[in-house]
Order: sequence, then structure tokens, then C-alpha cells
Amino acid sequence: MRLDIFTLFPEAFEWFSGQRHVQNAIREGSELRLINYRDTTPLGAGQVDDTPYGGGSGMVLRVDVVDAALKAAYGEQLAGRRIVLLAPSGRMFDEELASELAAEPDLTLLCGRYEGVDERVRDHLVTDTVSIGRYVLSGGELPAMVISDAVLRKLPGSLGAPDGAVEESFSEALGGAPEYPHYTRPSSYRGWDVPDVLVSGDHERVREWRRERSRERATEPPGTRSAGH
Ligand SMILES: C[S@@+](CC[C@H](N)C(=O)[O-])C[C@H]1O[C@@H](n2cnc3c(N)ncnc32)[C@H](O)[C@@H]1O
Repeated sequence: MRLDIFTLFPEAFEWFSGQRHVQNAIREGSELRLINYRDTTPLGAGQVDDTPYGGGSGMVLRVDVVDAALKAAYGEQLAGRRIVLLAPSGRMFDEELASELAAEPDLTLLCGRYEGVDERVRDHLVTDTVSIGRYVLSGGELPAMVISDAVLRKLPGSLGAPDGAVEESFSEALGGAPEYPHYTRPSSYRGWDVPDVLVSGDHERVREWRRERSRERATEPPGTRSAGH
């Protein structure tokens, strides 16, 4: 996959770019480019935003600046490319959309900042508008990392273990249900014991127990388990 992230703050991605699964994906042939809108702005003094028509607070990322950045990266060849604008009001990002995007050979993420992005970007330059939740962050950088992380870890070879992402929450292997619980040593801690079946060595029973727990989790309201203290 060729993944391009357009941002005013490429340095925000330093930590993310160094993560092992991202490095693995790159080693396996993927590309991650961080492109600064400011580098290709047609305006003087590195200007990228302007005040909103109609008044109001904040600055808006300009459509000509975004268009110039896309043209500098792709020429006139936008057709066929998946270009995603990050916005709180977009399509909700979930595992299904992560899989959909992971199947793309080329993916572009556009990060907004300030008050947002001129609406003509949404209307004319992008194929999708995606939100990572119904709340407002200060910029598209964290959403871009969330999406890139979820997408890149689906690419072959990005996780150390070949089957690492097969049986995960919401995967096909689990019928879209959340993953079953995991335990590790010690087998008993403060009287909290690991379920006997997991230390039984009976792989078929373990598989069945996991499938049941996963199905069970699919029917309980998320995050409602009591802490029990
Ligand atoms: C401060 S926000 C703009 C919020 C906008 N004024 C509104 O009320 O919807 C600046 C940028 O952060 C990004 N952003 C903030 N929250 C987001 C979310 N929940 N999902 C995706 N992107 C988000 C978008 O790129 C947005 O253009």
C-alpha cells in the first residue's frame, strides 16, 4: 500500500512511523509518506488558512492549498485514488472500513486543523469523509494515526506472527464478535484464578471455550463488566 498523509504537522507522526508493525509493513513493500500542505501552498509566506466567510472564530484550511498539495503529489491523476478527509461528522471508522481501506493499493488521508477545512474539499476533492468518533479533536493527526494503525496492521507481514490479526475482535474468524479473554501467568493472583480449561492442555476444549466467551461478549453491552471490588 502507498499511504500518504497530508498534514501541517508531519513531526507528529515520528513516534508512529517508528512502530514495529509500521516498519514491518514498509519492509514488506508499503510506503508511508508525510506531506506538508505548507510545502506547496500557492500563497505567500507559507499561508494555508483564512478567516471563514460569514464570520465566526477560527481559521479554515483553504481549498486552493489542499488542491495544490494534491496536484503536486499526484498531478491530475486523482481518479481511482481513495482520498479520505478526516472530519468529526464523517462516516464512523470501524473494523469493516479498516478492512475496506486495507484492500486499497493507494490511500490518502487529509488532516484538518483549526476550525476545519473549506467544504469544497469535501465536495470536490475527496472520495470519503471519515470520523473516528463523535467528539472533536484539535486536528486530524490522531485520527490519521488511528486509521493508519488499524489499516497497516491488516497488511500481510506487518505483525510479527502470521496469524496475529486473524482471530481478533470483530474479525471474520470470530463472526464479527469481540475477541475472547486472555490470561497469562500467574495462574492464581489474589485469589483470582485463570479458568481451569485454559491450563488443561485440551486444545479442542480451549477453542470451544474461547468461541463461547466471544459469542457471550457479543451479546453483553460493551464495557459493562463490573470491577468486582
Ligand atoms: C478542531 S477540528 C474542527 C472541528 C469542526 N469545527 C467541527 O465542529 O466539526 C480540526 C480538525 O481535526 C480533525 N478531527 C477532529 N475531530 C475528529 C474526529 N472525531 N474524527 C476525525 N477527524 C477529526 C478534522 O480533520 C478537523 O478538520
